[in-house]
Amino acid sequence: MAPTASSTSAVPSTSAKALLDPADALSTLASYKTGDGLSMDELIDSRQHGGLTYNDFLVLPGYIDFPASAASLKTKVTRNVTLNTPFLSSPMDTVTETDMAIAMGLMGGMGVIHNNLSAEEQAEMVRKVKMYENGFITEPLCLSPNAKVGDVLDIKQRLGFGGVPITDTGKIRGKLLGIVTARDVQFRRPDVSVTEVMTVDLVTARQGITLEEANTILRDSKKGKLPILDEAGNLVSLLARSDLLKNQNFPLASKRPESKQLYCAAAVGTRPSDRERLSLLVDAGLDVVILDSSQGNSVFQVEMIRWIKSTYPHIDVIAGNVVTREQAATLIAAGADGLRVGMGSGSICITQEVMAVGRPQGTAVHAVAEFANRFGVPVIADGGISNVGHIAKALSLGASAIMAGGLFAGTTEAPGDYVYRDGKRFKAYSGMGSLTSMARKTNKISGENAATQRYFSEEDTVKVAQGVTGQVTDKGSVLPFINYLYTALQHSFQDMGVQSLDQLRNNVKVGTLRFELRTASAQLEGGVHGLSSYEKTLYK
Ligand code: IMP
Repeated sequence: MAPTASSTSAVPSTSAKALLDPADALSTLASYKTGDGLSMDELIDSRQHGGLTYNDFLVLPGYIDFPASAASLKTKVTRNVTLNTPFLSSPMDTVTETDMAIAMGLMGGMGVIHNNLSAEEQAEMVRKVKMYENGFITEPLCLSPNAKVGDVLDIKQRLGFGGVPITDTGKIRGKLLGIVTARDVQFRRPDVSVTEVMTVDLVTARQGITLEEANTILRDSKKGKLPILDEAGNLVSLLARSDLLKNQNFPLASKRPESKQLYCAAAVGTRPSDRERLSLLVDAGLDVVILDSSQGNSVFQVEMIRWIKSTYPHIDVIAGNVVTREQAATLIAAGADGLRVGMGSGSICITQEVMAVGRPQGTAVHAVAEFANRFGVPVIADGGISNVGHIAKALSLGASAIMAGGLFAGTTEAPGDYVYRDGKRFKAYSGMGSLTSMARKTNKISGENAATQRYFSEEDTVKVAQGVTGQVTDKGSVLPFINYLYTALQHSFQDMGVQSLDQLRNNVKVGTLRFELRTASAQLEGGVHGLSSYEKTLYK
């Protein structure tokens, strides 16, 4: 049918009228009833689509009016502990011991020392973290005045360093008598006493000196070592010239404000013996205790929280794990200062498969955080974090920090030796509910094991695994890796248009930060696709 004169002329004039003035874009936007995408409530409404994992949704971009470096990631991990970075490493025997806890603390996060070892060993690790001072060697090898030149030569040959302090006790914290350097023992017979050859003309510094000041003294003194002494002349640490270049500053380091020592957290269970364990940990300087259980909603945790809060009021207690607000309510009422959220989402975990209990992690974090945040109890999203995007999503769901095992496993600072396969290096990464971890005897006398306790299976004749044992590739040091996580997360905040965690939370609450569900094909689209091969290097 031929168009009528009126209809042909109407088309151009109507569409010209439909075009709005670009100057009205913002006021027009304001005339929409809701923002684009979904609010948090709409996103999380499980009646529509079931429980969500991190991969099931995306955050819609916000407005950028600040550089990424201006984004602050400062957060509270318990009622009383604030960290500069929202990262915690899991209390697992293939993830967090002394080195990891120190590295996490230096980078502004916190390591949680696992309890699958004796109470004494765990307390010693806590002590080392608390005594650690960046750049200072706090456990230097010392010799007593009875040692001989041969002992120094032996140390040089075995460990590669010269410059051994001589103290009256032969140990750190003894009175410093001198230092034997490589030159002192050159051309000397092995049976000569160290007191005959040691250098006594020493440049020393007083405990409490900053790393920067100590480095300057060391540089100017032209000596190989700078011993740090307390008021009584006892050796408390050492600075080595060979470390001068390596001594970086860690401006974000998480330190207790009064003592300036790194924060340290450790895991315990809820048995009577755990009360004794905790007393050793507290003596060693512990700041935060984590009650480690896969299902924290129990009379055991309630009693343990109450006991800890009345016995050690200065220690913050993180309870869990929980995934529902009912579980959270019990532990908050008992006095928990923080909650750990996650059941079945860990990368090594088979809990959901074997126990039929658990919850998709996105929904779990939202449900618990929405409730706990109303009481000022921070929530830690634990497990299932495998990239920076997951961290950003956990925080947008209301978590105050994340905890990860697999992400930090395989790094230099994780416990365990590297093994080689097909020319590549790997480290073991095992679930605490794996048969490997449950087989470790952590209390030599009673034969108790922290891992079996975590899963309430001490009484079982058959050990039912809730985790697997695996390997992860060598990731190098965790220090640059955390730096990458931090910087990438700042960029994520910038994309969302939020400069802090408070702003993130507020924008979610008032509905200006919006979300979108991801279909299966959207998830494919969001990953690398269409290439015959590619290399994925995350940072440089
Ligand atoms: P990932 O970061 O995804 O590797 O998960 C680490 C978290 O998994 C830990 O912090 C624990 O909460 C949890 N987890 C540790 N061991 C096991 C296990 O054997 N089974 C189930 N969950 C575990």
